[in-house]
Amino acid sequence: MENRAQWGTRAGFILAAVGSAIGLGNIWRFPAVAYENGGGAFFIPYLFALLTAGIPILIMEFTLGHKYRGSAPLSFFRMSKKTEWIGWWGVFVSFVISTYYAVIIAWAISYSYFSFNLSWGSDTEGFLFNDYLNLTVSPGEAGSLVPGVLIPLVLVWIVTLGVLFKGVKKGIERANKIFIPTLVVLFLIIVVRALTLPGALDGLDNFFKPNFDALTSPSVWVAAYGQIFFSLSVCFAIMITYSSYLPKKSDITNNAFITGFSNSGFELLAGIGVFAALGFMANQAGVPVSEVVSGGVGLAFVVFPQIINEFPALNGLFGFLFFASLVLAGLSSLISISETYVAGISEKLGLSRTKAVAVGGGLAALISLLFATQGGLFFLDAADYFINQFGVAFVGLVEVVAIAWFLRKLSNLQTHANEISDIPLGGWWKACLGVITPLVLGYMMFGLFKQNLL
Ligand code: PHE
Ligand code: NA
Repeated sequence: MENRAQWGTRAGFILAAVGSAIGLGNIWRFPAVAYENGGGAFFIPYLFALLTAGIPILIMEFTLGHKYRGSAPLSFFRMSKKTEWIGWWGVFVSFVISTYYAVIIAWAISYSYFSFNLSWGSDTEGFLFNDYLNLTVSPGEAGSLVPGVLIPLVLVWIVTLGVLFKGVKKGIERANKIFIPTLVVLFLIIVVRALTLPGALDGLDNFFKPNFDALTSPSVWVAAYGQIFFSLSVCFAIMITYSSYLPKKSDITNNAFITGFSNSGFELLAGIGVFAALGFMANQAGVPVSEVVSGGVGLAFVVFPQIINEFPALNGLFGFLFFASLVLAGLSSLISISETYVAGISEKLGLSRTKAVAVGGGLAALISLLFATQGGLFFLDAADYFINQFGVAFVGLVEVVAIAWFLRKLSNLQTHANEISDIPLGGWWKACLGVITPLVLGYMMFGLFKQNLL
């Protein structure tokens, strides 16, 4: 207990938390989600979700980790023996995500390399699915490992587990201190360049054009909450784990606001960059922007290579910058999800960090091989669907209801946070966690059940 690992500096902790938050969700998820859910009008439910759920939960998780000084399962256990399983649930969700998140980072490594001579050619879709992923027609015939994916995947795990082996300060903190500032610089270069391309403004116009009618649709609000949860990495056991390494004197609420706003700031930046680039693409193809909008794997690995093909100059360089950004954003998130189970296993089984990394990380790496086979993309889609439907929001609901209503611990946590923080938590914080968040999450769960069972 006494010699629990600690962050070296406050900035180190914030960079690690921001590193976890900024990930693929910001770059390829947010722009498309915002566009589909009201464009400029989406910022209203989005900000509402950030302020009523995202940041309040982040504060709660930071306080939990700081007060009980344990990985998520241990912190929950120390709060009440009955809730240890909630921590393990979050850890499990993180574990599953890490197995396929690693594979997508591996693709981005390959694509950084392909950028140099635009090896994807003009049929970028054919290249991704046939030439690169060597996809089979059905998951049943999963086929063998694809060497082009396997090699960068091994690299991803070497880096990630290497960082975790080194520990909190020398590993996680140091890596984020390098990755995050580099990411911001690379990404800014891309955004500025994208903004100067023909058609960029048309792209932005499409992105920001508000559709206020959308605000009357509950699904738009649900999308805003979903985006905030995933994007801020709350309810994944991560932020509890990271804050358990904070020194006794730490301004918890301030740190949470900084983390929340940094993540959203980057998200906005990504939205601008992506839509400027999409506007350029539409301009080149002579079609409306709405015809080229996409998100996820399709945006990053099919549409972006096309955009890079059309770049007026330095194509290879900008392709490299884009995919390297994905790699950096992804790695800092992968490190954080993997730390949840490394910490959880090590404390539960009394293993050293080295052994916990070998066991937990080794197992995750092994399972991730499944996604590097010829049927990998099918499994990846399935795992991702499952996690998005039954993972995050579900854990969030259980976590918040257990703490606010069953254990009635909010006042307790509030006192703890207020003793050390600048911004005092008041009734607003308890109302957000005790009432607003459970209602919205309950509604989300109800909708999911209806959709899946009826
Ligand atoms: N917050 C990350 C993103 O926006 C995703 C993530 C989710 C990372 C869960 C870790 C754990 O991409
Ligand atoms: Na994010």
